[in-house]
Amino acid sequence: MLISDPKVIVALDTSDSAQALEFAQKASPELCKLKVGKELFTSSGPQLVEKLTVQGYDIFLDLKFHDIPNTVKKAVFAASQLGIWMINVHASGGQAMLLAAREAVDMAGSHRPFLIAVTVLTSMSDDDMSQLGINRTVSEQVRAMASLALESGLDGMVCSAKEAAMLRQQFGDSALLVTPGIRPVGTNPDDQQRIMTPKQAINDGSSYLVIGRPITQHANPAEALAEINQSLIQSSI
Ligand code: C5P
Repeated sequence: MLISDPKVIVALDTSDSAQALEFAQKASPELCKLKVGKELFTSSGPQLVEKLTVQGYDIFLDLKFHDIPNTVKKAVFAASQLGIWMINVHASGGQAMLLAAREAVDMAGSHRPFLIAVTVLTSMSDDDMSQLGINRTVSEQVRAMASLALESGLDGMVCSAKEAAMLRQQFGDSALLVTPGIRPVGTNPDDQQRIMTPKQAINDGSSYLVIGRPITQHANPAEALAEINQSLIQSSI
């Protein structure tokens, strides 16, 4: 089964580059994209990202930059030079920072990666909002941050699949919605609290699904990925 634009982004949550490369060998760029986050990037660096892009993988570099505009601009530009497909920053860094990040990806020209925002970390509660002096519920803050990100020219956002339908309704079809917290029917939720199946998430408006352990910790990761892709094909019929 070949897919022109795979919807599954496999989270390579490991510090072991050999393990990440072994997964990349077993899977294929026609079946999934890959997410490299802070753990793997800090341990294995740009060299690992380059090895994965050379194999043809679209890489979502999940480093969630949040700093002064000039620093974020330079970091996003440096990341863009690695030939990645997508990168993210925190919307709460403010509009000047978001505009600087947008300028940086535009400077990458034909290699321009998608630039998306983290709205509110899904680990945060309404109590955390008030502790931070934010006089909004998490849901209101998600909407406000999503709006700020899109007004600043970002391509979309990372959000809970449970928020996808609401964000689609508010912001229309063009924003990219990248959603973690995905669990195929009958799999272990692990530490995820609010889960959705791949099919439900796509039907609710997710553009791409971030999935880690249900694939990487499966006895046969390639089979787990194939089953998820199959469920998505069935959902589009
Ligand atoms: O193994 P699992 O499918 O739970 O992995 C989900 C991935 O998505 C992890 O890399 C996790 O850090 C990331 N993520 C998340 N929830 C968020 C943002 C990112 O689970 N709100």
